[in-house]
Amino acid sequence: MILLGIDIGGSATKGALVDSSTGALVSERIRYETKPLEKPNVIINLVEQIRKDLNYHGPIGVGYPGIIKQGICLTAANMHKNFVNADVAKMIQTKTNQPTVVVNDADAAGLAEMRFGVEEARQHRVVMFLTIGTGIGSAIFVDEQLMPNTEFGHLKIRGKDAEHRASDAVRRMEKLSWKRWGKRFTEVLNNYEFLLNPDLFILGGGLSTQFDLFAEYLKNSVKTIPAKLKNMAGIVGAAIAAHEAFQGK
Ligand code: BGC
Repeated sequence: MILLGIDIGGSATKGALVDSSTGALVSERIRYETKPLEKPNVIINLVEQIRKDLNYHGPIGVGYPGIIKQGICLTAANMHKNFVNADVAKMIQTKTNQPTVVVNDADAAGLAEMRFGVEEARQHRVVMFLTIGTGIGSAIFVDEQLMPNTEFGHLKIRGKDAEHRASDAVRRMEKLSWKRWGKRFTEVLNNYEFLLNPDLFILGGGLSTQFDLFAEYLKNSVKTIPAKLKNMAGIVGAAIAAHEAFQGK
């Protein structure tokens, strides 16, 4: 089935049509940059713009960078505060006139990677998928089943959120070398290992395309590999979520 997947981020809203049975993008990927902390109505207008650009009618799946329960946003760490408690699924549905499901962005990306990404993802019991971008997103899978809405980017490490120590945004802002950033990210992974003991880490998000540049500086013990779907995973996973919500599993 062809479905529209949308990935809302701290700096851009992206979307494409996805074949939910193969995970392949079947249209161009459309990307609209946004100012930091843009208000919900601006982002929702962009979702409608992407739908129109692609001339799409049908279920829409959306990944949003925060906790989502029954379509309602509960947090907005890197987003405008008006998102908190907003029924974003309903707002998008009203604007686009299409059935819409909203899920956490890292959950969406992790889902896509588990289904269509690296084979190893399906060979381990406990997999921790992380997206590294404006923030750090987490998705935990046990026997391929997702535990939704985990927020390990906000785990406090020596008094500071993990994502404030080692997100890609922090790396850029502080102009960290790969070595220095790698050291910080290793500390983050060590904390996750201590608490969760996963069998595999998969790194996704914008930074996953540069894995080769920093792999040698990751000194944690659990095997850590880059995501295969790179930064397409969020869009693909959102489309899978729409498929599951409206067409069944
Ligand atoms: C949010 C998460 C999100 C992650 C990646 C964090 O700041 O709290 O919900 O998955 O950023 O976008």
